Amino acid sequence: MSSVEDLLNRCRSAGQEHVLAHWDTLRPDQQASLLAQLNDLDFDLLATLQGLVREVAPIPRAHSFVPPAVFPLRRDEAQQVEAAAAAVEGARLQAEGKVGFVLVAGGQGSRLGYDGPKGCFEVGPLSGRTLFGWHAARLLAGRARYGGGGPWYIMTSATNDAATRAFFEEQSFFGMQAEDVFFFTQRMLPALDLEGRILLSGPDSLFLAPNGHGGTLDALASSGALDHAAACGVELFSYFQVDSPVARPTDPMFLGLHARAEAQMSSKVVRKRSADEKVGVLGLADGVLGCIEYSDLPSDLRTATDSDGDLLFHAGNIANHVINVDFVKQLTANGLDLPWHLARKTMQVFDIDGCVRACDGVKFETFIFDALGLSQNSVTLEVDRRTEFSPVKNAEGSDSPQSSRADLADTFAEWVLAAGGELPSPGPAGSSIVEVDPRVAESQEEFLDRWPLQAEDLGGGHLYS
Ligand code: UD1
Repeated sequence: MSSVEDLLNRCRSAGQEHVLAHWDTLRPDQQASLLAQLNDLDFDLLATLQGLVREVAPIPRAHSFVPPAVFPLRRDEAQQVEAAAAAVEGARLQAEGKVGFVLVAGGQGSRLGYDGPKGCFEVGPLSGRTLFGWHAARLLAGRARYGGGGPWYIMTSATNDAATRAFFEEQSFFGMQAEDVFFFTQRMLPALDLEGRILLSGPDSLFLAPNGHGGTLDALASSGALDHAAACGVELFSYFQVDSPVARPTDPMFLGLHARAEAQMSSKVVRKRSADEKVGVLGLADGVLGCIEYSDLPSDLRTATDSDGDLLFHAGNIANHVINVDFVKQLTANGLDLPWHLARKTMQVFDIDGCVRACDGVKFETFIFDALGLSQNSVTLEVDRRTEFSPVKNAEGSDSPQSSRADLADTFAEWVLAAGGELPSPGPAGSSIVEVDPRVAESQEEFLDRWPLQAEDLGGGHLYS
């Protein structure tokens, strides 16, 4: 830890002396807290971020956009053979313990309006199973099916780390061994005002925000998770986000396709619902693979179609990746170098006159998918949206708890019908509520294989567990 005087001097010479405006009036514990935050500050990085805020020249836009090669959902014969071989390979990799699972759960969930780690949010249509509970059940299901049992790395942020750990304790780690779950925390960065000065959230605290999911790579390295993975013999990370209960991190076909292509980082995508659906699509911008934000894709390309009338840029990013442990090592060996994305926002901040007021400022993030452009080979696998991507992001409407619960219940009801089983009588909303524990089945195919199954009648619906 740097000395107090040294830190105060660094603040002054970085033009940030205003963060010390209330120093003399702070209690010793408040001074200690402010000093700890300043001590965590990377002043070289701060200078870079200040430069980005002040930069007058706009960030250059790409000139050419090309859709990626996609391994499609509807497969020709050769692709079916490849998919089957990949599934065998992916199962083998898991059985040998070569796959570790990385869940990113550091975001703030502000759009959902839920006050707590998003993973604690309940989405089971009947069981009330939480997002963390769904992910844990899928990992346990993978262990039961394929053997092995790679560690689970969970990225939190300073704002939700303690609550996340406490929740896992309370839930007895969902039946997993505590030593198989490795929590690590992403870095927080200060938000700056439009002149590049650090914003405050109180007299003794900087206005800090998580550094984006690109920070996962950095944090895997700095937390020791990367070394832990290497020591356990883990070669691949299966990366997924907290917000979709149907994410399938143990999907053997995806893991196998990636390994067989000798890729370093691969992605799953879903077909965009329509040209104007506002999701990022995977594609090559000026020859570099990445995620092209909706607003960056020229409108004529957004609506362009191929000879079958399908959207040319249809590969909607669902943020499921396979990433080689060696690739993460390589990317982080000399400090992570991913581009910074600036989010301009109006924030409630603590002004140096002691009042809280709205201020225009900038938050900084790096994005994990920017690493795709550095990967030598990459597989882009198209998957079925309803069975693999139904996130909880908004409080209402699309991508909300209601739409996610409905997708789950509708999918499970289809499985029961396909098996010739009986649905429960429809509830007040008009639909029959069915829920299937991932340990029973993760796909219709698997459900049919295991049929006949006995459901528990919970009054409001049928639970297969
Ligand atoms: C993101 C992708 C979008 C993709 C969508 C799929 C970006 C910029 N866009 O959008 O292309 O279609 O996911 O769901 O990412 N997180 C952290 N730390 C952070 C920021 C985020 O852990 O600093 C985690 C969140 O907990 C969440 C996930 O990353 O699990 C996604 O974050 P979010 O901000 O919700 O991304 P979207 O804007 O929905």
